[in-house]
Amino acid sequence: MAENIIELKHVKKTYHMGTEKIRAVNDVSFTIEKGEFCCLLGTSGSGKSTLLNLMAGIEKASGGEIKIKGYDIRKMSEKSLADFRQRYLGFVFQSYNLIGSMNAIENVELPLVFKRVPAAKRRKLAIKMLKQVGLGSRMEHKPNEMSGGQQQRVGIARAFIAKPEIVFADEPTGNLDTKTTMEVMDLIHTMARRNYQTIVMVTHDPRLADYGDKIIHVLDGNITDIEKKKSAEDIDKECREAAEAYKAELAAKKKAKAERIAALKSGAVETMTEKENSKREN
Ligand SMILES: Nc1ncnc2c1ncn2[C@@H]1O[C@H](COP(=O)(O)OP(=O)(O)OP(=O)(O)O)[C@@H](O)[C@H]1O
Ligand SMILES: [Mg+2]
Repeated sequence: MAENIIELKHVKKTYHMGTEKIRAVNDVSFTIEKGEFCCLLGTSGSGKSTLLNLMAGIEKASGGEIKIKGYDIRKMSEKSLADFRQRYLGFVFQSYNLIGSMNAIENVELPLVFKRVPAAKRRKLAIKMLKQVGLGSRMEHKPNEMSGGQQQRVGIARAFIAKPEIVFADEPTGNLDTKTTMEVMDLIHTMARRNYQTIVMVTHDPRLADYGDKIIHVLDGNITDIEKKKSAEDIDKECREAAEAYKAELAAKKKAKAERIAALKSGAVETMTEKENSKREN
């Protein structure tokens, strides 16, 4: 039986604009299982971002119950909610939300600064993470010295570095072209599978929602349909395979590096012998 990592029951969010009431989320109930890649799909103004922000504890619900990992986040104090978010949740934003004065490494390190990871270890992990997202050669660049796709890769590296159990993403490819969008989607999917992480992603694009193991259709603050496309067993299997594949990839890289070093060393010995020989000949 898969674990329901997120459970919503009769969740509501009403905004008051003068005398007008806007029901952005209107009595919504659903569950998301651990490891699931879940997409919230709907047109502009349907309430997707509001719903995501309620689950992520960024906004306060007007009613209902929101349980994450079995904890009712509506009953938590501000302090425990902040600790909970830092410990279990990651975020990827449409506008990247990087800090302009910091380079890629420093941006990616940030969640570990809050977790009080020592500086040298932080740096090492940030570099490893940036290499994983294909930015090994842009690590010293500041956000305004990178393309949109590269900035979003930094955003993804930052969201995943502390290995949060759940990553929330609101239109993470909203500012990217089609090719980069697909690359970023693949990246989020691969990282999530590798570490058995749960993703909740907002999109208005049915083609992107197709990445989801579950698609929750949102319209006018209501859920109109929930499509479950993959069983917990299949997701579990894919996660195990992804973790194995990554382990094998790292092992192959390590082996290749060791071979290169060995070749260099024997090359150096040969060169020295050659030199000695030519000295003797002369
Ligand atoms: N802070 C707010 N105050 C008042 N109304 C709001 C507020 N935030 C959102 N709304 C309203 O709630 C509804 C849902 O907004 P939401 O941002 O969740 O939509 P969305 O599906 O994310 O749309 P988009 O695809 O355009 O981002 C909209 O009608 C919006 O105008
Ligand atoms: Mg939105």
